[in-house]
Amino acid sequence: MTDLLTEQPPPPAGDTPLFAALNEAQCRAVEAVDGPVLVLAGAGTGKTRVLTTRLAHILASRRAYPGEILAVTFTNKAAREMRERLEAMIGRAADGVWLGTFHALAARILRRHAEMVGLTANFTILDTDDQLRLLKQIIAAANIDERRWPARALLGVIERWKDRGLTPDKIPAGDAGDWADGRAVELYRDYQERLATVNAVDFGDLLLHNLTLFATNTEILATYQRRFRYLLVDEYQDTNVAQYLWLRLLAQQHKNLCCV
Ligand SMILES: Nc1ncnc2c1ncn2[C@@H]1O[C@H](COP(=O)(O)OP(=O)(O)O)[C@@H](O)[C@H]1O
Ligand SMILES: [Mg+2]
Repeated sequence: MTDLLTEQPPPPAGDTPLFAALNEAQCRAVEAVDGPVLVLAGAGTGKTRVLTTRLAHILASRRAYPGEILAVTFTNKAAREMRERLEAMIGRAADGVWLGTFHALAARILRRHAEMVGLTANFTILDTDDQLRLLKQIIAAANIDERRWPARALLGVIERWKDRGLTPDKIPAGDAGDWADGRAVELYRDYQERLATVNAVDFGDLLLHNLTLFATNTEILATYQRRFRYLLVDEYQDTNVAQYLWLRLLAQQHKNLCCV
């Protein structure tokens, strides 16, 4: 069925079928398994193929169990495709890899430790319409004219703060912005309180709550740092600050982070 189940010792890395579909530069990127690696190359040059093969190679060479590998893709579709490619290469040996988008992986961690950030495990994830509805209520409650200061603009301000890993208490003075003459921070705080009250998060919170969780529970962080021997990130150029901080924390123990 798969190479992993045969009796013979595995052939040397450069000769395995895994490497057959790669050019020489790609092979080198796959084989550079330990330590941080950043693969820079243009679109369509085979970066994702390198990342997927590298993951298969780590498993086939038994450097880690599937549950010790974290692989981040940009979309759910890309995660599905990567899982299919892995299965084609090494079969079921890739089951159990933590493979998904930043949001999906952060949600998985957050559900396990929801109590630590004031939620319960079955928290709801709001979509944009839910977010806007909630913000409109908050704007009205603050006696701000929503026609002049639209909820959508406030949502943009809040999302940019969240993308930078900033909770309301961390917004630098002077960074309050123009929205309603600088009242956005106050409404951001109200919004976070309302979300907590109804046991809900938005997409930005998934990463933000992970950062809070890790900052306030070093033991929990340490278990994930020990667990993830290898981290692989596709489309790294699109990573925001919160995602970068999250990756950096998780990679701190083993420092085997590969970004393409
Ligand atoms: N060494 C190779 N030989 C033949 N085809 C390749 C090779 N590397 C990548 N490809 C193919 O080229 C296309 C782009 O590869 P992909 O890994 O998605 O690139 P990138 O992630 O850099 O945009 C895919 O169809 C992939 O299967
Ligand atoms: Mg790609």
